Amino acid sequence: MAGSVVVLGVFVADTAYRADRQPAMGETILGLGFKLGPGGKGSNQAVASAKLGVETHFITRLGVDTFADMANDTWRQVGVKSAAIATPESYTGAAYIFVDDKTGDNAIIVAPGAAALISPGDIDANAGLIRAASVFVTQLEQPIDAAIRALRIARDAGVTTVFNPAPAAELPAEIYALCDYVTPNETEAEALTGMPVESLDDARAAAAALLAKGARAAIITLGKRGALLQTQDQSIHVPAVSAGPVVETTGAGDAFNGGFAAALAKGYSPLEAVKFGCAVAGVSVTRAGTAPSMPSFEEAMALYQAQQD
Ligand code: RIB
Ligand code: NA
Repeated sequence: MAGSVVVLGVFVADTAYRADRQPAMGETILGLGFKLGPGGKGSNQAVASAKLGVETHFITRLGVDTFADMANDTWRQVGVKSAAIATPESYTGAAYIFVDDKTGDNAIIVAPGAAALISPGDIDANAGLIRAASVFVTQLEQPIDAAIRALRIARDAGVTTVFNPAPAAELPAEIYALCDYVTPNETEAEALTGMPVESLDDARAAAAALLAKGARAAIITLGKRGALLQTQDQSIHVPAVSAGPVVETTGAGDAFNGGFAAALAKGYSPLEAVKFGCAVAGVSVTRAGTAPSMPSFEEAMALYQAQQD
């Protein structure tokens, strides 16, 4: 039986605007489409993991409003077990997402709302849940002191920790030693190391720098180029796979992280889990939306197996 995944992070309602370019300051342009749906990096990762059939819990804060209803409906549908603290004094967050109509690339503003109030005390209240997990995952959309507290509780209990440092921020040095896996994308890896990450060799050098800071392993997600897994004794590039034409890449990193964590919880080796994460992301980019584009286990497995041939 697979162990459980516990995710700490943020839910927001994604409001995605498709247009052929972004407006300049003071300008109004006509968009080509709009979509409202569940998002937030942590919630997306939890949804990805739960949809793969792994017991998944999500720690967050929500307002008491329609977007909170959207969160609860989403989690109920896919089986994410909610450890959300209702926060009536704030609101459930929202994200503005610009989607480039030609490339599917995105630019995002996240307003975390209630989730900005997640505190170390909230984490202590959920310590038992974290200790019982096989894999713990968090990101940086909620306050970093809460992330650190949770990573420390997980690490002390021998739970495998996955830290997705997104969006990019300055990190206290102590956080690296709490990470079994640190999983930045190219931009975030650059921000964390101060090293340019363009080529695969650049990524290897940045990953080595993350290990030198104290992480046990680093995974740099490389968009179209897949992911790089780096440990003390191996550096392996896993190419991206796609289940079809790319529709929207928003949430692909979350698909990867949720898929990677779920695969670890199922007992896959680190390399197998990276390949599985790439397969989950490879399905998600062929569909619109973030959480709604996460695949079932069967869909991800089909691409994972195709990738082995
Ligand atoms: O990683 C994608 C997510 O980042 C979106 O769902 C958006 O909500 C932002 O938080
Ligand atoms: Na998608």
